[in-house]
Amino acid sequence: MRTQVAIVGAGPAGLLLSHLLARGGVSSVVVETRSQEYVASRIRAGILEHSSVELLQAAGLGTRLRAEGHEHRGIYLQWPGERHHLDFVDLAGRSVWVYGQTEVQKDLVAAGTAEVYYSVADTALHDVETDRPYLTFVDEHGTARRIDADAVAGCDGSFGPSRHAVPAQNFERVYPYSWLGILADVPPSTDELIYAWHPDGFALHSMRSPTVSRLYLQVPNGTDPASWSDGRIWDELALRLGHGQDGWKLTPGPITDKSVLPMRSHVQTPMRHGRLFLAGDAAHIVPPTGAKGLNLAIADVALLSRALIALLRSADETLAATYSDDALRRVWRCTHFSWWMTTMLHTSGDPFDAQLQLAQLKWVTSSQAAATGLAENYAGLDIGI
Ligand code: PHB
Repeated sequence: MRTQVAIVGAGPAGLLLSHLLARGGVSSVVVETRSQEYVASRIRAGILEHSSVELLQAAGLGTRLRAEGHEHRGIYLQWPGERHHLDFVDLAGRSVWVYGQTEVQKDLVAAGTAEVYYSVADTALHDVETDRPYLTFVDEHGTARRIDADAVAGCDGSFGPSRHAVPAQNFERVYPYSWLGILADVPPSTDELIYAWHPDGFALHSMRSPTVSRLYLQVPNGTDPASWSDGRIWDELALRLGHGQDGWKLTPGPITDKSVLPMRSHVQTPMRHGRLFLAGDAAHIVPPTGAKGLNLAIADVALLSRALIALLRSADETLAATYSDDALRRVWRCTHFSWWMTTMLHTSGDPFDAQLQLAQLKWVTSSQAAATGLAENYAGLDIGI
C-alpha cells in the first residue's frame, strides 16, 4: 500500500502525529507491534503542561480533557517539617492539568483519524536515505505487507526499530535508584501533587482522578515489587510524605497496581536521518520527576507535523531541515530540568549531597527567581523553544 507518511508506533506520539497530519491534508498509516488493548491500558504519565493542553485543544482533542481533567495551579515541595506551595500561575502565568496518558490515548483512538495495523511483527525500515522509503511488516493474520511512503516517522519508543536506523550519538545517564509506583482506589489526600525529599528517599503523591491516587517511593535499583507488602508501602509513604505534620493525613486504600520503574536520561542525536524522523521516546527518555516525557513527545510531534505538511504539500524543506535542531533545543532543556528535579529530590546516601539538596530546596521555595525558574520549566515552555 502507499501513503505519504508511514508511522511506526501507535502510542500518543504516533497517533497524535497521524491526527495532526490528517488535519493538514497529509495521509498516513501507523503500524504497532502491541495490541490495541495493551497500548490503551499502559499506565504512564499523568500531567499535561500548558502548551500540551493548548495543542490538544487546537487539534479538536480537548473536550474530555476540559471536562474530566483537573487543572492544578502548582505543586507542593517538602522536606521533613516543611511543606511549601509553588503557585505556577502566579509565578509563570501557566497551569498544568492532571489527565492520564491513558486518557489522551483513548481520545486519540476515539477520534478515529489514524489507520492503524496493531499486533504486527518484524517491522523493518528501508531506504530511509532516499525520498521513497518503505516499511515492511507481518500483519496480525500473518500476511507480509509493505507500505511505500514519502517519509517515515519513528514514534516507536526506545525498544522499537526506528532509532537504530539513524546513525547517531547517544547521551545517557543511569540513576542509582528506581521508583516503586502504585495506583490506589482512594481519593487523593492532597489537592495538588506533593514532591517530598526525605532521608529515607524521595516520595511523590500524584493522582489520576478524584477517586484514584498515584503514589511513588524511591527504591534501590533491582527492587522486586513483590517484596513490598501493601502495608509497608503505605507506612513508608506516610513517613516520607509527612503524615501527622501540621495535621496533614495520608489516607491509605486498596492498591490496584504495583510496579518498579528504572530512572534513566537518554538523548539520541540527530532526530532525523534522510526521510526518517524520530519523535518521543524513540529519541529521548527522561526520568519521570517533573513529568516531561509525554509533554516532550507532544511537542516533537507538533513540530514534526508542521515540517512534514510543509515538505509533502508544498515541497518546502525548511522546517524538515531544522526539525532535529528545533526539537532538540526543547529536549535538552527538559532533559536538564528532569535531571535537576531528580538529583534535587532523590537521596544518594551521601550526607554532603543531602545538605546540598536541602539548601537547594530552601532556595527554590524562598527565592522568587528560583521558584519562577522551576514554575516556567514545569508548567511548560512554548512548543517552539
Ligand atoms: C504521575 O502522576 O504519574 C506523575 C506525576 C508527576 C511526576 C511523575 C509522575 O513528576
